[in-house]
Amino acid sequence: METLINKLKTAAPKAALLMAIAAGSALQSCSKSDGSGNGGATADALSSDAASAVYVAPGKHDELYSFLSGGFNGQVSVYGIPSGRLLKIIPVFSQHAENGYGYNEETKAMLNTSHGFVPWDDLHHPKLSRANGTTDGRWLFVNGNNTPRVARIDLKTFETVEIMEIPNSAGNHCSPYPTNNNEYVIAGTRFSVPLDMKGGTSDVSLENYEKEFRGSISFIKIDPKEGDMELDFQILVPGFDYDLANGGKGPSEDWVFFTTYNSEKAGTLKEIGASQNDKDYLAAINWKLAAKYAKEGKLHEMPANYYHNKMDKGTHTAKSTVKKNVRYLLPEECPGMMYLLPAPKSPHGIDVDPSGEFMVVSGKLASAIPVFSFAKMQDAIKNKAFDGEKNGIPVLKYESVLKGEVKEPGLGPLHTEFDGKGNAYTSMFVSSEVVKWKLNDLKVVDRIPVYYSVGHLMIPGGDTKEPYGKYLVAMNKITKDRYLPTGPELAHAAQLIDISGEKMKLLLDFPTVAEPHYAQAIVANKVAPNSVKFHKLDENKHPQAARKESEANVTRKGNVVHAKMTSIRSHFTPDNIEGVQVGDTVYFHVTNLEQDWDVPHGFAVMGANTSETLIMPGATQTLKWVPKKAGVYPMYCTDFCSALHQEMQGYIRVSPKGSNVPIKFSTGKKKQNIPGVASTK
Ligand code: CUA
Repeated sequence: METLINKLKTAAPKAALLMAIAAGSALQSCSKSDGSGNGGATADALSSDAASAVYVAPGKHDELYSFLSGGFNGQVSVYGIPSGRLLKIIPVFSQHAENGYGYNEETKAMLNTSHGFVPWDDLHHPKLSRANGTTDGRWLFVNGNNTPRVARIDLKTFETVEIMEIPNSAGNHCSPYPTNNNEYVIAGTRFSVPLDMKGGTSDVSLENYEKEFRGSISFIKIDPKEGDMELDFQILVPGFDYDLANGGKGPSEDWVFFTTYNSEKAGTLKEIGASQNDKDYLAAINWKLAAKYAKEGKLHEMPANYYHNKMDKGTHTAKSTVKKNVRYLLPEECPGMMYLLPAPKSPHGIDVDPSGEFMVVSGKLASAIPVFSFAKMQDAIKNKAFDGEKNGIPVLKYESVLKGEVKEPGLGPLHTEFDGKGNAYTSMFVSSEVVKWKLNDLKVVDRIPVYYSVGHLMIPGGDTKEPYGKYLVAMNKITKDRYLPTGPELAHAAQLIDISGEKMKLLLDFPTVAEPHYAQAIVANKVAPNSVKFHKLDENKHPQAARKESEANVTRKGNVVHAKMTSIRSHFTPDNIEGVQVGDTVYFHVTNLEQDWDVPHGFAVMGANTSETLIMPGATQTLKWVPKKAGVYPMYCTDFCSALHQEMQGYIRVSPKGSNVPIKFSTGKKKQNIPGVASTK
């Protein structure tokens, strides 16, 4: 049987492939997904100008940072653009053994929820914080789709510093969308849930979907200085499914738009039940007016139970707070706050162009892409051009808000971004292509096949007032024959496309970490200069920090042993510990004394039921260990820190329970005893 590699080697001559590109039909790109070898894209990408366009010479830096969501991996991956080089994986909702996130004592609390410790989530949408409608490079907000949560990553440290659970939500999908100056980050629920105003979701017959289920949209206030999140209020909305959202800008900057499906309110077999109506809705919410109503006392309050986890700067330790109520508005009591715009069948993406005038709705089952006009929407509201109402919310007439439709764009339109030069780019899931069209006349001007089944696409700043219209990243759901086979599963893939000219040009394929649903990118100089190189040791407020070797010690209190340790190239203090007993709970608090860039030390103990932990210079982290057998246990540094890294190791002696071996610890020859401590048991 011919191997795939051989097939690639014997692929059709280049000229034939180039002709195939020129023909460029949508279905043709689909037909390549049968694994029969590569299309013209390889030939194209092999051309030297494509190669040089993505070539970042060794030692040189990329032009942009891009942040790709990890999808079911629960993390964010950071790539350099245009090289496609993986720079970092930032754990958010998932435990990450590489640095101990979610395993060590300092970060465990980040993953606390009202359902207990949830060490995973389905992370879909990264969104960069904003100033004046453009990215400001301070924070990255991301959503957890499974157990509704919104997280904030600090781009000074590339660490997750805050995670907030969202009450009254189920499937936090249309989330998180920052307004133009980070006034709010807005999050909507995908699933509607039975909402009992006396206390959140409750035990209700699924047959009562239509009557008792509601959606919610959450308004999270962002502290302008520190970025801290606070759930200000929610709007309880009709029991549809809320899919995606995006904020307005310029004239529409007081508004946020949500696509909805299942306006039929089907509670089962939604693939049929939610596709009955010819039109679902685009929900338009005036968030500024909502905030005003909230201030003016239109708010109700209901009991809730949700976790808010924050990393403390001084101690580098996460703390959880449980919140017990939530305030809400009802749209039927707040005139002018919310309208519904009919949108073709089960719309998915909603994207607002850089001018803020056009709202582009991509309906995955629709044959055209409707483009709504914000000016027309304002007129329709003024003239009351309503087509009835739904749950007390006025429905605007389709024709009265429509600028026009992009005709025959391709099959399965999902998402649109903009280049700031009057062009829009829409991903076509079914026909596996990116389609470029003009915002002024809605005419398709170019299309390029992608490999294969593109979901989201991203232009750096393409969702803001100021797109960086040079590159486009297509995030493809299926990889098939693009890389060497790696068993039944292949990495998902992103493709970098040059959009600086009239014709789009494929530059590069690069594999992604799990399944990116969306991405953001920002010019490097908005982030790189603020990057923290190390934590200052004298600002370390961790209660168990040892700021110098002489502060290291081992103490026992009952059956809990605290080992306050230090690490510096290339030893731990102490590196010999005795007096630990079977069944003790031992906490190794390791402070990294280094005050230099890029010198973390790791720490691991044989048999510990957790991961190693990686301690950044100046920080303290804690590994918990409950030894189960008597013996001598090695501990060592896991990160290659110097030529003597392999020597950075030590021993812990574990004696049987009740043994009279006293607590004893040392480094080098200096032995230290804590008299009397061993006998406090
Ligand atoms: Cu410290 Cu290796």
